[in-house]
Amino acid sequence: MEKIVVANLKMNMLYNDVLNYLDKLKIENNSNIIICPSNIFIPYFLNHNIEVGLQNVSEFDIGAYTGEASALQARSLGIKYAIVGHSERRLNNNESNTCINHKIKAGLKNGLKIILCVGDTLKDKENNNSYNKIKEELLEDLKDIQNLENIFIAYEPIWSVSTSINPVVSTPEEIDAMALYIKKVIKENFGYDDIKVLYGGSVKTTNIEEINKIESLSGVLVGGDSLNPENLMMIGKIVSE
Ligand code: PGA
Repeated sequence: MEKIVVANLKMNMLYNDVLNYLDKLKIENNSNIIICPSNIFIPYFLNHNIEVGLQNVSEFDIGAYTGEASALQARSLGIKYAIVGHSERRLNNNESNTCINHKIKAGLKNGLKIILCVGDTLKDKENNNSYNKIKEELLEDLKDIQNLENIFIAYEPIWSVSTSINPVVSTPEEIDAMALYIKKVIKENFGYDDIKVLYGGSVKTTNIEEINKIESLSGVLVGGDSLNPENLMMIGKIVSE
């Protein structure tokens, strides 16, 4: 399968910024780039034939859940992807592994492909607890889930997310070792040996060539640098080569 680039625009851009962004973004119909804008701007991206993903998904399908957006609603717009369990939601919205597990199930039930983010903190890293932390998240987030072919695991060390001024990125060796470990945990615990792993955390035009050489990866998740359409296009090009 072709490698993918997931662009997480987070809660950035105003209406005019979106128009400028879409004006500058020249990506083909069958591009490997999936863009996850704020929900209110999604229709503009869809109108430009861009592959769109949600940044979060409700654990419910429809009803009295103020402020939420569901996988069922996303599918009705032709959306095929959703990020679940991003570290900012785990932290700012107190999303537990149980809640994330329910969201993944709701997404899969409605035919979405899920980009599940898992990550270790700096404290985990310092205490040599990174592997345990990732295993715990994988086992709890994916509990009782069978169809893993529709899931990408995005490994995002929390200490390297949004470090725009001095990008702090794991070394390629660290990323490769963790990606292989994730594959091993999934194989041993779910009997599935083809899980796709992405890397995220300060991925930029300046380091994408090096990250793209890591063979255990099936792509990247880009935050800050995807706000610049030229940079996103360049990352997409390098990853698809
Ligand atoms: P970043 O964000 O590329 O700005 O570090 C990545 C993410 O939060 O998914």
